[in-house]
Amino acid sequence: MKLLVTGGCGFIGSNFIRYWLSHHPDDHVTNLDALTYAGNPENLIDYKEDARYRLVKGDICDRDIVFDLMKDCDAVIHFAAESHVDRSVLDASAFVRTNVRGTVTLLDAAKEYQRRFHHVSTDEVFGHLKKDDPPFNESTPYAPRSPYSASKAASDHFVRAYYQTHGVAVTISNCSNNYGPYIFPEKLIPLFITNLLEGKKVPVYGDGAQVRDWLYVEDHCRGIESILLKGRIGETYCLGGKDSEVTNLALTKMLIRLLGKDESSIEFVKDRPGHDFRYSIDYTKAKKELGWEPAVSLEDGLRMTIEWFKAHADWVARCKSGEYREYYAKNYEGKIA
Ligand code: NAD
Ligand code: TYD
Repeated sequence: MKLLVTGGCGFIGSNFIRYWLSHHPDDHVTNLDALTYAGNPENLIDYKEDARYRLVKGDICDRDIVFDLMKDCDAVIHFAAESHVDRSVLDASAFVRTNVRGTVTLLDAAKEYQRRFHHVSTDEVFGHLKKDDPPFNESTPYAPRSPYSASKAASDHFVRAYYQTHGVAVTISNCSNNYGPYIFPEKLIPLFITNLLEGKKVPVYGDGAQVRDWLYVEDHCRGIESILLKGRIGETYCLGGKDSEVTNLALTKMLIRLLGKDESSIEFVKDRPGHDFRYSIDYTKAKKELGWEPAVSLEDGLRMTIEWFKAHADWVARCKSGEYREYYAKNYEGKIA
């Protein structure tokens, strides 16, 4: 197969390309990535000379590039997005552009050339849960609450509409919070690991009682593979972690323990506006239909992620320079006491 992967220089996309080329050695991957702050070609530097891999620097809103690349592929796996809730709180315009307009541009091209289209989405489109609510599943109504999740919800609706209206062969996955190698150090787990490794404090929003479900990125890549190979066209699949639902505070304490630090590293800071309380995923459908389930426990996944970060200090230093510093100053300004 010839795959067109969008956003393959980001966290999950780069893990997916690595996973795909090692499990499907005869396939070819073209990676269309605009190389925003979150896109780092270094994530796939070891594939630079590999004839099976090609990076095209370009924007998914650019019809000429998108139509050109679509013509030449069998299937699209669409990761490219603005992906960070905190950035969407600061400014939503890039989220509308990339997540909505970019997705529609790709769908137009998939429609033109009748290509298989897998859309990578998030459980955040379902809104949030109370402590004892049942987990999200494929029939949970959409109720996004952040500018990020609103833009992803819009993109999901377009994907379904192109299936219903134009017969494009789509599938969608809605997954929980991912973590693992190459995760950009602005999300909770990598930020806290790198801050703790640097002897800094970790900023827990509010009282840390919010709950997230954590999916190890390799489990996610395997889930997308199952959907591409076995998923039913027009269907959505929810993918979640292995017994990995924890409060932010409990997760923070786990990281502190695994890194041999103490709880004086915790700094409670001003809460995120509109902070979603809890996400939780029921992945029964993926298990029954695709035989997929997550394999990596939270403790094992965190250990592997910590080891990866310890071995990639230079990568972290490069991520945490330049634009990142400006973002960090802006996002945490006035939050940290
Ligand atoms: P990321 O921010 O690490 O990477 C996004 C990639 O998209 C970057 O390489 C960036 O350069 C590229 N990109 C951004 N705008 C682009 C544009 N206009 N044209 C082309 N490329 C562009 O994101 P991620 O964490 O790897 O997430 C990948 C996908 O998975 C996203 O669609 C996200 O919504 C979804 N998702 C992520 C998580 C998570 O926990 N990270 C959870 C659920 C769903
Ligand atoms: P994040 O990794 O940004 O993912 P999302 O907002 O998509 O769930 O945040 C995970 C949780 O951690 C979320 O409840 C917000 C919280 N959080 C903090 O407490 N402090 C931080 O510095 C960050 C980045 C997140």
